[in-house]
Amino acid sequence: MAKKLEGKVALVTGGAGGIGTAICKRLVDAGCRVVTNYRNEEKAAKWRETMKGQGYEIPMFKADVGDYKECEAMVAQIEKEIGPIDILVNNAGVTRDSSFRKMTHEQWDTVITSNLDSIFNVTHPVIEGMTNRGWGRVINISSVNGQKGQFGQANYSAAKAGMHGFTMAVAQEVARKGVTVNTLSPGYIGTEMVKAVPTEILNKIVAQIPVGRLGTPEEVAYCVEFLASDEAGFITGAELSMNGGQHMY
Ligand code: CAA
Repeated sequence: MAKKLEGKVALVTGGAGGIGTAICKRLVDAGCRVVTNYRNEEKAAKWRETMKGQGYEIPMFKADVGDYKECEAMVAQIEKEIGPIDILVNNAGVTRDSSFRKMTHEQWDTVITSNLDSIFNVTHPVIEGMTNRGWGRVINISSVNGQKGQFGQANYSAAKAGMHGFTMAVAQEVARKGVTVNTLSPGYIGTEMVKAVPTEILNKIVAQIPVGRLGTPEEVAYCVEFLASDEAGFITGAELSMNGGQHMY
């Protein structure tokens, strides 16, 4: 039997990160040809080797998602070497946590550029092809902290909330062309990013999660595959929360 997403080309930005890695593997397992971007040559080579060791061949293309010209060039190169992009997972993101009073403009700018400008930079060169071909999936990885706000994350919460505004607007523009645009908002997932939160603070956060634990990257990847599937074609402009019950609305 053919796999669910057989032959689809998927670009997962930030694929070498904690959540990104799980998404890449899940989409490969579902039959996709998955590619990702990278910024740091050394880290990328190490990740590619690790993936190879696990049986996953995932080509990597150099581009900073905060830079429009680099993203344009990356998309052109992927489409030439691999094929037209059917599924785009805007997953790349960073944190620069600080209470707002202490936040520098640089901390603000870094997060807005990497987490919000990036979705323009990568989606814009991809969307035209998707609409012309009459099928596409754009999945924006946001966060529970874009939904509820978080002490120490004025920059991150603003970017992640902005992401869903983008989702709702673009979803309307491309709906008739067979392209869906959705936001997936994970809660606290057991990645290096979350483990960087001071233990005392993280313990307090976990205590507020009804399910009683951090989520796993594999649980996020499962939702991505679901949103990417043909059967999810009627879901667009939506925000799918998966946060262990930490925030319900
Ligand atoms: N609510 C209310 N008050 C709080 C608070 C909170 N959650 N946390 C700290 N405070 C208070 C402190 O008690 C202290 O009060 P006093 O001045 O009266 O003593 C004051 O705020 C401390 O303020 P500071 O500006 O000095 O803060 P800090 O430098 O000590 O720490 C911080 C700021 C580094 C942002 C720290 O609060 C922190 O790491 N918070 C966690 C942020 C977080 O959850 N990040 C998520 C990262 S993972 C991720 O982003 C993935 C995802 O999508 C979920």
